[in-house]
Amino acid sequence: MNAQKPVVTGWRCAACGTRVAISDVFSWRCPNSSASDRHHVLEIENTIAPLRSNGDENPFVGFQRYLAWDAFAATLGLEFDSRTKIICDLDDAVAKVAGTGFRTTPFLRNDSLSDALGFAEQGGVWIKDETHNVAGSQKARHLFTQLLHLIAVENVGRAPWRNQNERPQLAIASCGNAAIAASTLARAVDWPIQVFVPEHADAPTLKILSALDANVVRCARLATDAPGDPCVFRFREAIVAGAIPFGVQGPENAWCLDGGRTIGWEMAVVAENLAGALFSRMFVQAGGGAFATCAANGFFAGATKPKLHAVQTEGCAPLARAFEIANKTGGARNAGSRWSQCMWPWETTPVSLADGILDDETYDWVGACNAMADSDGCPVVASEDQVRQSFELAHRVTNIDVSPTGAAGLAGLLEMRQEIADDERVIVIFSGVRRQ
Ligand SMILES: Cc1ncc(COP(=O)(O)O)c(C=O)c1O
Ligand SMILES: [Zn+2]
Repeated sequence: MNAQKPVVTGWRCAACGTRVAISDVFSWRCPNSSASDRHHVLEIENTIAPLRSNGDENPFVGFQRYLAWDAFAATLGLEFDSRTKIICDLDDAVAKVAGTGFRTTPFLRNDSLSDALGFAEQGGVWIKDETHNVAGSQKARHLFTQLLHLIAVENVGRAPWRNQNERPQLAIASCGNAAIAASTLARAVDWPIQVFVPEHADAPTLKILSALDANVVRCARLATDAPGDPCVFRFREAIVAGAIPFGVQGPENAWCLDGGRTIGWEMAVVAENLAGALFSRMFVQAGGGAFATCAANGFFAGATKPKLHAVQTEGCAPLARAFEIANKTGGARNAGSRWSQCMWPWETTPVSLADGILDDETYDWVGACNAMADSDGCPVVASEDQVRQSFELAHRVTNIDVSPTGAAGLAGLLEMRQEIADDERVIVIFSGVRRQ
């Protein structure tokens, strides 16, 4: 494996086209991204063909050579085996805090759900179950490549701080699973972390964050704030003051778009080895949009390309709006240069039972639109009633203790069911566990 050509060749900004070398340290953002213009996002440039796992149960090891992190760490002078060891050591440290390290998560046809929705035997609903992933959701996958980046840089002595006591704090804006995932990973390496949460952050999440020693900062909307999420504004101020972005928004730290693809790679490998019909559609609930972008980009590295349906709720659907405008103004593919025209914060205060996908901006809308355009997919906006039904259905017919947000992809499937043939194979991702 060592002798193979690197599959990841670099980064390219989806908005302004600027290229960044894969060897750059701390390459979180496009060089043209600034405090007044965050409309830039670095995309990974790579060629993966064919997609093969080496069989390791840890997807970061199984798919190591496809990771941008692996290409980056090679440029630091680390040999392949040393890179594998960094992954495994970090995974062991994570497992001590989380109770599990990263392991390929289940991806199976759910017969009861398929029957309940009237699918034929040849078709059906396949559930990718992330509820037992590290920190109870898919979020840790995105963050793990950011942590790998930091640890590799430290290991080779390229970090600007002299020792671990001088590490700048990590920072994240999130009220839920991403905050828990980030704080879990930070705890694993004793790295201090600031978590910017909304005033209404829920009690179970706050309890978990404090047990993980995170520095929680509650963020009220200030009269001086522009439209948008006050947690994101306070987070950006912390970054200006020297903190390291450690969240799941590509424009703030593109390295989250690397590890997030492991979920798609895992599904693609199963899809390739499956007899019978191909998967025709994949429903992915979208908040900030990194998840839909990565699940699709990972899956599409395999041999098949199901239609991506990014699912939002009627209470907050900026991605559906952006897709429509992009389509009318030159196409939904490569719309990054039309950012301000297509994406702006949702005007009304978003409310939904699926409260993890209420980001008022879909930060990673360019990647999500590209994936939908490439796969002939489209966004789906589910009604609040369908969100409720999907949660209720998930609990009635499956034994997965999924959260309303985690089941929200299913709400998109309910919305589109009439248009889907009974013998189609479709995917939903139960992305997060219920917390109470
Ligand atoms: C369980 C779960 N699923 C899906 C999402 C959506 O992911 P993204 O914000 O990357 O679109 C979130 C985000 O908070 C989540 O917590
Ligand atoms: Zn740019």
